Amino acid sequence: MDEHVIRNYARADIVFVSGNGAILRDETGREYLDFLSGIGVNSLGHGHPRLVDALREQAARVLHTSNLFRHPFTERVAALLAEATDMQAVFFCNSGTEATEAALKIARKHQRRCGHPERTGFLALEHGFHGRTLGALSVTHHRAYREPFAPLVPGVRFLPAGDAAALQAAFDAEVPAALILEPIQGEGGVRELAHDYLRLARKLCSARGAVLIHDEVQCGAGRTGAFLAGDHADVKPDIATLAKPLAAGLPLGAAVVAAGLADALVPGDHGSTFGGGPLVCRAAEVFLCELRDGLGEHVAARGAQLGDGLHALAAEFPVIAEVRGRGLLRGLRLRHGAPDLQRTLLDNGLITNCTAGDVVRFLPPYVVTAEQTDQALDLLREGLAALPKPDRGKK
Ligand SMILES: Cc1ncc(COP(=O)(O)O)c(C=O)c1O
Repeated sequence: MDEHVIRNYARADIVFVSGNGAILRDETGREYLDFLSGIGVNSLGHGHPRLVDALREQAARVLHTSNLFRHPFTERVAALLAEATDMQAVFFCNSGTEATEAALKIARKHQRRCGHPERTGFLALEHGFHGRTLGALSVTHHRAYREPFAPLVPGVRFLPAGDAAALQAAFDAEVPAALILEPIQGEGGVRELAHDYLRLARKLCSARGAVLIHDEVQCGAGRTGAFLAGDHADVKPDIATLAKPLAAGLPLGAAVVAAGLADALVPGDHGSTFGGGPLVCRAAEVFLCELRDGLGEHVAARGAQLGDGLHALAAEFPVIAEVRGRGLLRGLRLRHGAPDLQRTLLDNGLITNCTAGDVVRFLPPYVVTAEQTDQALDLLREGLAALPKPDRGKK
């Protein structure tokens, strides 16, 4: 029945029909432990009662009115984001890639407004992922994603992630409109950038007048135990992009902007028909209030439990080369067999995914329980024990 769906995804032949918290049920009634949450999206898990009630109520009132009119929930979510980030103002859109587009455009507009129209280039990092639309793709590193769609936005330079000397040299050569980076590179293999490197990036951007964009689409909005992953390094960007977990399963993206850039966009400069409408913002309001009122501490505790468990497994199984990530964004880099392990886990009822070829990634919902975290670690131990030894003839 899928012959009319474009084959741009490698989909597993499983149909999920319902869920509850971190549990998903397929059409045969089989239950799975969801340690992927729709690639970091279902922050409140499945069937969260407060979220379901709020959406029911909002759906009965009004779904969409356009950005030609004010919405109380849009304004409320913007205020909650400003409070959580200590930043000034928010542009709303529908996805991570659109949040990147907005950030890049705001950066260029800001430079133009500051008398630097010549600053149009962007610095980005190797292993970085920022989305699939043409602008966002231009600052996404993976060549296989970019090459079929060339030519992309000119003036993008990729720097080796974490290399302080290369960063310094790039700024010495030319001041870009913006430097864009993920404090924890998600799709690139759950690689956390060193805090000193993040601080150097902040220092160079401030000193030279470049805009610092933190792409927090995957690592932000509370997933690592702080609202922004950059908070762990005490680094505030000029623009933080958010999306995946923000509306707990509905499509909402945001570019949260610091005070100096908040009026870079004026009416007509940029827009989105659906962005930040009443229904998604109602969901985001529930999520942000839950996060503020105790869920944030729960994430920190479950994140520590998951991290400790993964480190214990790494001590037990030499096939684990590295435990990566923070909070509820974790990765296990394997010496071999990461895709095999992911398939075995799925067969045994644990949903994860494999990224960057050799990393099994865990993005459980924020509401995952301590017991479910232990269950996932047990399933992982079984999966690791069942992993075939590498063929001696091969490397
Ligand atoms: C860090 C980061 N930025 C941007 C994106 C793009 O988000 P979307 O798929 O919602 O466009 C992703 C998606 O995985 C991401 O991880």
